[in-house]
Amino acid sequence: MVADTIHVHSHLAGHPSYHILGHEIVLDVPITALILSAIGAAFLLRYTLSIFRLALELAVLPGKDVKSLQSRQGGTWALVTGCTSGIGLEFARQLAKRKFNVILIGRRKHALDEVAQELESKFGVQTKSVVVDVAAPGSARDEALSQIELLAKDLDLGVLINNVGASHNMPVAFAETERSEMNQIIETNVAWTLLLTRAVIPSMIARSSAGGKARGPKSLIMTIGSLSGRIPSPLLATYSGTKAALSTWTKALAEEVKPQGVVVELVQAAFVVSNMSKIRKSSPFVPYPATFVRSVLTSIGLPRGAQGRPHERTPFWTHALLDYAVGFAGYVSEITGIRVILGMHKDIRKRALKKAERAAKKE
Ligand SMILES: NC(=O)c1ccc[n+]([C@@H]2O[C@H](COP(=O)([O-])OP(=O)(O)OC[C@H]3O[C@@H](n4cnc5c(N)ncnc54)[C@H](OP(=O)(O)O)[C@@H]3O)[C@@H](O)[C@H]2O)c1
Repeated sequence: MVADTIHVHSHLAGHPSYHILGHEIVLDVPITALILSAIGAAFLLRYTLSIFRLALELAVLPGKDVKSLQSRQGGTWALVTGCTSGIGLEFARQLAKRKFNVILIGRRKHALDEVAQELESKFGVQTKSVVVDVAAPGSARDEALSQIELLAKDLDLGVLINNVGASHNMPVAFAETERSEMNQIIETNVAWTLLLTRAVIPSMIARSSAGGKARGPKSLIMTIGSLSGRIPSPLLATYSGTKAALSTWTKALAEEVKPQGVVVELVQAAFVVSNMSKIRKSSPFVPYPATFVRSVLTSIGLPRGAQGRPHERTPFWTHALLDYAVGFAGYVSEITGIRVILGMHKDIRKRALKKAERAAKKE
């Protein structure tokens, strides 16, 4: 039998030939060049597909709406921490608008009462409030945790939004950070978030795993992270570290409780207009809390900018592009991101110190 020959024209003698399925393949390029082009093509394909997926998730694919977590009979509750301003207040409003009853957690009773009244009168839902300073370990915080644990047992708690967070008053070198500020950040962002989740998760597991195969609706534990945890942020090192801790904790917990029908995810955010960011005006990279929260609650299941990182999502479109860009070229893009942030924080600190100086002169 004469073998079919695919002859790639050879100018040089001694080029290797291969017999594959009865075909003779003669190479007229060095084998190393062929391997390198195959690797290049594979990378190109990977990045093209990944950019295509990002575009699809941002512009076309509908995510799951949080409403899908409600029980069929209604009356499902959501718990929102830090709900008296900014992003947390918007979570409470938008969940109530979707007919979730809301457990409100905050440190100012008067402000909690106002939010409760607004939600009940505007959206016709029920509310319960727990007043607690989440940054103050001790008996009052323990009592609040026990109270919340009981509420979770009594109510159909389907959604936990771990929103409360604390940051530095202004960018500051780690070596100069006040101990009280560090305690505030660590207690609020990490200790409280983990303790609260521990208090309510057995009830959320029971709810979603009840009824054998035809089990209840999924429960959702959503923690608000920060791109400061994703991109290490010099001069906000304590805040940055606590948000990174939440990311690792989320992933570990998510895999533990996934078989029991509980979805655990970390939501990444860059700047949002709020008291914490001290930004008052919106821009394409700095949405209002309402816009940000809408993007979060309507895109469950879509990683968007957090592609390739399990149990994380970056839902708001410009934040997603930023997050994606930082991961795009590995070490090079990450170190560039860290250095850009260092420069930005130095600048913010300089301006904040000048402002404080002017205010001190006025007094
Ligand atoms: N804004 C941003 O640019 C941005 C960016 C990335 C991530 N995030 C994250 O988003 C989350 C919400 O931030 P935000 O910008 O909405 O902040 P915010 O406007 O300052 O609101 C923080 C909320 O948490 C409450 N809170 C703070 N410390 C508390 C404590 N010790 N005990 C009880 N409640 C306390 C505040 O209560 P009061 O009303 O009593 O102060 C307020 O309701 C945080 O986890 C933050 O890290 C924000």
